[in-house]
Amino acid sequence: MSTAAQMQAKAAATTPAARPPMLHAGALEGRVAIVTGGGTGLGRGMAETFAALGARVVIASRKLEVLQRTAEALSGEGREVVPFVADVRNRASVAALVEFTAERFGGIDILVNNAAGNFVVESAAMSPNAWNTVIDIVLNGTWNCTQAVGKHMIDAGRKGAILNIVATYAMTGNPMTVHSAAAKAGVLALTKSLSIEWGRHGIRLNAIAPGPINGTGAADKLWADPTIERRMRENISVGRFGEPEEVADLASYLVSDYAGFVTGACFVQDGGLWLRRPTLFD
Ligand code: HXC
Ligand code: NAP
Repeated sequence: MSTAAQMQAKAAATTPAARPPMLHAGALEGRVAIVTGGGTGLGRGMAETFAALGARVVIASRKLEVLQRTAEALSGEGREVVPFVADVRNRASVAALVEFTAERFGGIDILVNNAAGNFVVESAAMSPNAWNTVIDIVLNGTWNCTQAVGKHMIDAGRKGAILNIVATYAMTGNPMTVHSAAAKAGVLALTKSLSIEWGRHGIRLNAIAPGPINGTGAADKLWADPTIERRMRENISVGRFGEPEEVADLASYLVSDYAGFVTGACFVQDGGLWLRRPTLFD
């Protein structure tokens, strides 16, 4: 069997089957969560798991139809997932999201900054607006939501957990996605800085740096090219891409009381990809 075929067989053998969430039922009972970019990909996976664990969840992004479809699919049987249109780049829009969530559910306990924009582009050819667009969504958007929700938590005297979704190239850098790498590095610095500043308010901030995950916008946009996809797969020590449910399990732990002693940390969840140090997308 060829190396590629062996990898495929190994991947098929080790991909986790559908299974219940890692935490016990009710682990997030009574919690109110905002997940930005919660209509698709990893955000949708986290919203689903949080709701299954008892949280009431507001999913926020630009496209109402996508949000509505997801909210409908994830709600029911006691689960509540509510759509809200917001552009994280716009501070008035973010303020409206915070106000809506606090009024509807009486407060906010959890924020996941998951919304992102990204594309593969040669740096020398990138336009100023292309750079600004990704920095604006990823870094400024994370800051806008974090400041608005953090201030709400502080004013309400309410403890909270903020989780930022980054990428391992925040630590290593990466060609062809320099805008995203720079923005994610900024988000990581923000995570660590505020974990120190807001610890006294009972607010914990952590990050997850996922590797390539199946069924997400990143998969469509970044490794639709089979050559790039194969190179990534061959460098993943566990022999397969990740699943949204796996990120959702780690996320649910980090925003739960079980992680009460964890703050300012970044968890790499990438099947070992980053340790081999391959550059991606070039
Ligand atoms: C070069 C590009 C480009 C491309 C857009 N631009 N795509 N430049 N190559 N492929 C430029 C445009 O020409 C424009 O500049 C500027 O970027 C803004 O583009 P718009 O289309 O006007 O922006 P907007 O409508 O705001 O959409 C934002 C977006 C879009 C980022 C461009 O793709 C989007 O909405 N993405 C959201 C979903 C997403 O990206 N998910 C993937 C996350 S994956 P000019 O100069 O022409 O005006 C991820 C994984 C990381 O982050 C780690 C993986 C391991
Ligand atoms: P995705 O499916 O493309 O989701 C991105 C979401 O962000 C979309 O739902 C989009 O919704 C929303 N969004 C984009 N711009 C926005 C804005 N200005 N305001 C509000 N919402 C906005 O992406 P994904 O692959 O699941 O990635 C999710 C997160 O994980 C990102 O932070 C990404 O960098 C990170 N990550 C992913 C992978 C992976 O393998 N998937 C690996 C490493 C890191 P609208 O279009 O409706 O606005």
